[in-house]
Amino acid sequence: MSLLLLSALVSTLSFASPSATQDFPSRCASLASKLHFSSTRNLTTTFISANTTLLFPSADPTCTRPSQLVSIDLCRVALTVATSPRSSLRMETWLPLTWTGRFLSTGNGGLGGCIQYEDIEYAASLGFATAGTNNGHDGMTGESFLNNPDVIEDFAYRALHTGVVLGKKIARVFYGRGYTKSYYLGCSTGGRQGFKSVQDFPGDFDGVVAGAPAFAFNNLTSWSCHFLPLTGPVGAPTFVPVEMWPVIHQDVLAQCDEMDGLEDGILEFPHLCEYDPAGLVCREGQNASCLTPLQADTVRKIYSPLYGTDGSLVYPRLQPGAEATEALSAYFLGQPFGAVDWWKYAIFNNASWDPASLKPSDYDISSRLNLFNIETWNGDLSAFKNRGGKVLHYHGLVDGIISSENSPRYYEHVSKTMGMRSSQLDDFYRYFQVSGMAHCGGGPGASVIGNSKRNSASLDPKENVLIAMVQWVEKGIAPETITGIAYKNGTAALGVGYKKKHCRWPTRNVYGGIGDPKDENAWECVS
Ligand SMILES: *[C@@H]1O[C@H](CO)[C@@H](O)[C@H](O)[C@H]1NC(C)=O
Ligand SMILES: *[C@@H]1O[C@H](CO)[C@@H](O)[C@H](O)[C@H]1NC(C)=O
Ligand SMILES: *[C@@H]1O[C@H](CO)[C@@H](O)[C@H](O)[C@H]1NC(C)=O
Ligand SMILES: *[C@@H]1O[C@H](CO)[C@@H](O)[C@H](O)[C@H]1NC(C)=O
Ligand SMILES: *[C@@H]1O[C@H](CO)[C@@H](O)[C@H](O)[C@H]1NC(C)=O
Ligand SMILES: *[C@@H]1O[C@H](CO)[C@@H](O)[C@H](O)[C@H]1NC(C)=O
Repeated sequence: MSLLLLSALVSTLSFASPSATQDFPSRCASLASKLHFSSTRNLTTTFISANTTLLFPSADPTCTRPSQLVSIDLCRVALTVATSPRSSLRMETWLPLTWTGRFLSTGNGGLGGCIQYEDIEYAASLGFATAGTNNGHDGMTGESFLNNPDVIEDFAYRALHTGVVLGKKIARVFYGRGYTKSYYLGCSTGGRQGFKSVQDFPGDFDGVVAGAPAFAFNNLTSWSCHFLPLTGPVGAPTFVPVEMWPVIHQDVLAQCDEMDGLEDGILEFPHLCEYDPAGLVCREGQNASCLTPLQADTVRKIYSPLYGTDGSLVYPRLQPGAEATEALSAYFLGQPFGAVDWWKYAIFNNASWDPASLKPSDYDISSRLNLFNIETWNGDLSAFKNRGGKVLHYHGLVDGIISSENSPRYYEHVSKTMGMRSSQLDDFYRYFQVSGMAHCGGGPGASVIGNSKRNSASLDPKENVLIAMVQWVEKGIAPETITGIAYKNGTAALGVGYKKKHCRWPTRNVYGGIGDPKDENAWECVS
């Protein structure tokens, strides 16, 4: 299957003939003179040969992407685009010599501000003409939102859409013909951007792969920033000592690990886990490795949904299990989370706003403001569906940054809004729960699914979400499950340890008790 599909991937090369190959660098150099866009600046077109390491010395250091190895021959197009008199974006379009005819756009992460070169390289190396932007500002902070709604508008939707429109034009001019199919690949903020396209720009993509989406964005920032006021600072009576989290994790596993038929340290369906820390409350005379009643209450609240002033749900709970992944460093250390910049610079326009002061009435303010409809919560996807678009949505079930419990909530919202059951949604929208996967990658389970180059071990469509999407769009073969790979001892160099087929909502993965649990066929997706 993988070889077949790969040959399909490379069967439509535009420039693979020897003369065209020789011609490629000069065609790239002359591309700049053929691109006539208003409101663009600093346009450069540069031939990059395979195995070149690009350096980005002037990139914002918070982007932590000082260089990128380029594995294939390509034409690199870089430019700046004014999106308004007060905002602009920087974008790149990488046009591979070995072009499959496909177009792809990448997304962004957090509140960035950063071109995700590694994703552009991943898709370009697979033969996509690939675009990506800095989402309208530079760096991972939100400072440029301050008193500048135009930058916020870029961040909410405009930068991605603008980059897609221009990227497609650039590819058409360079290759001399339009693309065949258009794709999107993104996770976290990138997952939200993917759904924003599906909801509001249904013509932009034929296939969207959206992971761990930061949709319900206003309420997500309420939730992600409520941990600091909840725990209090280090040493507060409500603060749970850091050394207690591994103890709590073992307690979570003791209560919930066997619910999927196997005690292996991985919860296949944390939604069913109603974790209760009561057993860890200090007994008389015990003063170590236990929780005070106030600390136990903090733990209970962390694993409970967040409600607003009128009692309505603001955001679902963190799923138990996340205490062993990013949640510890992101939310449990008594420090402000990065998204506090949204409150400071977008909601309150006050750089001295105190993150510890966040309160439920603030959730209402943010939710009502819903700047540029950044909520990204429209449940009517019919325009996208009607033009044949497909969405592959995935979420890691030990995501410690964006709770995986919010993903099925959106799925059910779409189901209700469109009046479609799962069997009907399956035609164009499938949601996969990746057990043992942390935020967009990593984690203790079979979490290598091809959603990024770093998180890719296979081009088999069963084992790679991007290739699965290509096969769904172009051959009509929809993914039933997504097979994740776990490396031996968690180390890529040691090779494949085991594989697991991750189930699509609303089914969940259960071990039947027969056969080697490391055999992917020993598990079953059950209703
Ligand atoms: C164009 O590039 C120059 C030199 O790198 C830089 O100073 C300038 O700010 C850039 N202009 C835009 C609009 O990005
Ligand atoms: C790139 O480097 C790799 C490993 O060093 C090598 O196998 C490959 O042939 C190189 N490719 C080109 C096009 O130079
Ligand atoms: C904890 O209890 C032990 C005896 O049970 C005692 O020696 C120790 O000082 C106590 N530590 C604290 C921090 O209270
Ligand atoms: C966001 O929270 C408000 C309460 O502050 C609630 O009314 C609204 O339904 C929530 N939105 C979503 C998408 O969950
Ligand atoms: C900004 O926030 C600080 C700290 O909460 C507060 O003291 C100050 O009044 C706020 N400024 C404005 C203009 O609201
Ligand atoms: C397995 O991983 C552990 C912890 O990461 C490490 O200490 C150990 O050396 C690894 N074993 C092998 C065989 O690589």
